[in-house]
Amino acid sequence: MELEKELLSLKNNAVSLILDAKTPEELEELKLQFVGRSGSLTKLLKELPKVPENERREIGQLANEVKTVIEEALERALEQTTKHRQAERLLTLKQQIDVTEPGNTPPLGHLHPVTEAIEEITEIFSHIGFTRVRYPEIEWDWYAFEALNFPKNHPARDDWETFFIREAPHATYGPMLLTPHTSSGQIREMLKAEMPIRMLNIAKTYRRQSDVSHVAMFHQFETLVVDEKISIADLKGTLDYFVKSYFGADRKTRIRPYHFQFTEPSFEVDITCGACLGKGRLPDGQECKLCKEGWLELGGAGMVHPNVLKNSGVDPDKYSGFASGFGVERVATVKNGLEDIRDIYSTRLSFLEQF
Ligand code: DAH
Repeated sequence: MELEKELLSLKNNAVSLILDAKTPEELEELKLQFVGRSGSLTKLLKELPKVPENERREIGQLANEVKTVIEEALERALEQTTKHRQAERLLTLKQQIDVTEPGNTPPLGHLHPVTEAIEEITEIFSHIGFTRVRYPEIEWDWYAFEALNFPKNHPARDDWETFFIREAPHATYGPMLLTPHTSSGQIREMLKAEMPIRMLNIAKTYRRQSDVSHVAMFHQFETLVVDEKISIADLKGTLDYFVKSYFGADRKTRIRPYHFQFTEPSFEVDITCGACLGKGRLPDGQECKLCKEGWLELGGAGMVHPNVLKNSGVDPDKYSGFASGFGVERVATVKNGLEDIRDIYSTRLSFLEQF
């Protein structure tokens, strides 16, 4: 019965010490002192085998109860003191914060100038009924060249410095490549055979090139309109509308005869220069260095070649169409007066923040 007394007094002693403890550290100490490996309760438990057999069961039960009571008391107290400590920390923190001090505004970004240009172009063309579409960036030769009226091994293909993919050529569509222009979208759009067509295809394009006016990955926007009785007047009107909306109402457009395999007739599209306003000379009489005699080159356009219509399953006797293809980076740099296209892909914030 000696052990029973000792157990009970140990319990009272431990619980009152636990209730008095103020910090988690003090409680950790008490834990060691009572229920740790060489704690006083652990030591008492080791006496248990010495208790006469008829009392052992009862004393054993009591010992377990004491252990549970102490452990639970420790747990509860630990929770409380930790909470208390957190509350105290928060209070001192609050006292240190001056809530009347004006805050620091976090820096706010904006869309990349190329994304901004794509959104603006999409919006402008949507007002005259064009639908934006997307086609694969990894394409077959047939869509990118052959259906566009470039015979196999035709030298005109060299102007599109194409990246080819190391894959076995397709039996019908030929080698696999990265789209060197958005014109492949013309074929895919016409093959859908939903007339009339007013397509705006904006996509990434790839060519093996890099200098002040070229990068290896750039974006193009391609228009395609196919219906009965589409004429050059429709093409010119659409280009004028785009140029005035994007660059400003004072800009003029002209088309110059040119050659593309997939259009007949074909044109290059120029707009008046924003610096000399199409005069070729600045007000002080100096020659304008930004343009050629008042004009800036924008891109290509033309009336869809009858072979291209046929290759896409469209009857050239019933339908005609026009198409145009411009560089997104090109129009964005012309609009913003930039000289080096590579700047637009630099990560210099001081440059990008200007837009
Ligand atoms: N695909 C041509 C290029 O990348 C641009 C082009 C020219 C597109 C004339 C057209 C077009 O739709 O009619 O250089």
